[in-house]
Amino acid sequence: MATSRLSVFLSLVVTLSTVPVGSLASDPPLTLDYYSSSCPTVLEIVRKEMECAVLSDPRNAALVVRLHFHDCFVQGCDGSVLLDDTFTLKGEKTASPNVNSLIGFEIIDRIKNYLESECPGIVSCADILTIAARDAVILVGGPYWDVPLGRKDSKTASFELANENIPTANEDLRGIISKFLYQGLSITDTVALAGAHTIGMARCENFRARIYEDLGGSSHLSGLKSTCPAAEGGDDNIAPMDYVSPNVFDNSFYSLLLKNEGLLNSDQEMYSSVLAVQTKGLVRKYAEDSVAFFQQFSDSMVKMGNITNSDSFVNGQVRKNCRFINT
Ligand code: HEM
Repeated sequence: MATSRLSVFLSLVVTLSTVPVGSLASDPPLTLDYYSSSCPTVLEIVRKEMECAVLSDPRNAALVVRLHFHDCFVQGCDGSVLLDDTFTLKGEKTASPNVNSLIGFEIIDRIKNYLESECPGIVSCADILTIAARDAVILVGGPYWDVPLGRKDSKTASFELANENIPTANEDLRGIISKFLYQGLSITDTVALAGAHTIGMARCENFRARIYEDLGGSSHLSGLKSTCPAAEGGDDNIAPMDYVSPNVFDNSFYSLLLKNEGLLNSDQEMYSSVLAVQTKGLVRKYAEDSVAFFQQFSDSMVKMGNITNSDSFVNGQVRKNCRFINT
């Protein structure tokens, strides 16, 4: 039984890892100095605005990091997640992983407004989100990395792909890994990037099933039953995914997985699933070695940020307002 499940998994891995998504060799490369003459203050402006946002509420760091992730997993990092619904465009904001869940858009609006007054029509919303996510991580204690730039904003969004491509809390390990492989990200990238759950909150709806299963004695997770009742109600009540240090970007998220205290089923699966052969070792490694985690997280964020939308280089634009396509 275990062997056949494993072979299904492995054949899926082989199949999916051959599916090309994201950038093509012919796409213009992203570069570190893309705005050095057209908008030399871009990094300073984004940093300043992110400092204000995180100072006013540290959770804002988590919101921006998640926005970037949900952008990149749908048509590549092209700002598609930022588009509002209009009569002619069905955006991604009401797709099931996003609705009532994805917030923080006004932080990106503020940065965009500032940049439009400094260098109008130059900096794409997709690039703003990528820089802002990097700054968010630094501002709550995480690692620095250089951000390749030069993305264009899409003129389209995909409600369907947002539903299909973004992993969900109750998905098993096989499902989660396939969705990362599909984006050209490895199992190592998957485990490292999930470490973003060291900051931020989840809603009861996404951890109810987890806290009412047999938890092997986690008093912390049992204690969340008062926040998240078994029956209807309380769906939007929130709890931190890393209750030890919810506002600090560190490796304590992985230590929680070792104690079977991951809040999301999908996170705990990386350590506890019968298929967690490779992922278990990585969880242990990152729990023991925060330098290794920081290094891999930085590399994997660059890799995720480099999932570009080939079409946007041809048909894309720099939006004036991140919520709407330029008329
Ligand atoms: C591994 C697969 C992943 C799954 C299944 C997943 C799922 C989720 C869920 C269900 C939530 C809570 C949302 C809510 O309750 O409204 C969440 C929050 C969050 N996710 Fe993920 N996620 C994954 C990977 C990632 C990645 C790769 C990143 C970024 C690199 C990320 C960043 C975040 C952050 C920062 C939050 C907290 C947001 C807040 O405070 O509102 N996640 N994730």
